[in-house]
Amino acid sequence: MKELKGVILAGGLGKRLEPLTRITNKHLLPVYNKPMIYYPLELLVSAGIKDIMIVTGGNNAGDFLKLLGNGSEFGLKHIHYTYQRGEGGIAHALKLAEDFAEGKDIVVLLGDNLVEKPINKYVERFKKQKKGARLLLKKVHDPQRFGVAVFEKNKVTKIEEKPKKPKSDYAITGIYMYDNQIFKHINKLKPSKRGELEITDVNNIYIKQGLLEYDILRGWWTDCGTHDSLIKATNLVVSKKR
Ligand code: DAU
Repeated sequence: MKELKGVILAGGLGKRLEPLTRITNKHLLPVYNKPMIYYPLELLVSAGIKDIMIVTGGNNAGDFLKLLGNGSEFGLKHIHYTYQRGEGGIAHALKLAEDFAEGKDIVVLLGDNLVEKPINKYVERFKKQKKGARLLLKKVHDPQRFGVAVFEKNKVTKIEEKPKKPKSDYAITGIYMYDNQIFKHINKLKPSKRGELEITDVNNIYIKQGLLEYDILRGWWTDCGTHDSLIKATNLVVSKKR
């Protein structure tokens, strides 16, 4: 069975959360009783992934060290950290984990994505997958805010990033699993219209190669990138506790 490494992307400038993010990093903001970054970290650890890198950036990156230290509170021996300058996009941030990955397959979590249930069963399926990528999709009522899957029957034939007229209600969640070809694909990318290296472009390369698998995520899922979704995340976490 293959050994997986984990990467949490917590860079970017969190502009949609101004002024909350003017003096700190989005992923250090509270979601109910814990800083946001705790949730993806605990999710990876509970899925059995203990070799983890956090890609941070923007404001107050040093506070991650102060908060998380070497990860012993999470049952880890060590946490790897790296720093993304500017806001070059999700794929740009992920590229910084290339040396850390050492050619192993990786599970990548966006640091502002929260889920209700463990992801262990999807990770186990990815471990059995010989090669390619595996994504988790979720039906939503506002797909135009996300990467959206285009289907032919049950097959995903394309992903469109924040389409004005979404072709399905299935968003691509920020939980991505990749084989060791990921960095080769990132190196081929050109910046999008918004000036970012888009993870959606990487996922479309895997689709073209016929190497993209997916599962439909069970339980709730939300991002925390806007004021509305941050309060929604907080309410969902509270409702899970009660
Ligand atoms: O939440 C899921 C969505 O995340 C996907 O459906 C989209 O396909 C994907 O592009 C992304 O959309 P957003 O535009 O909402 O992503 P955002 O810019 O908010 O970034 C999400 C996280 O990625 C952020 O919390 C930290 C990390 N990130 C992002 C950027 C732009 C970085 O680490 N560095 C970056 O430069």
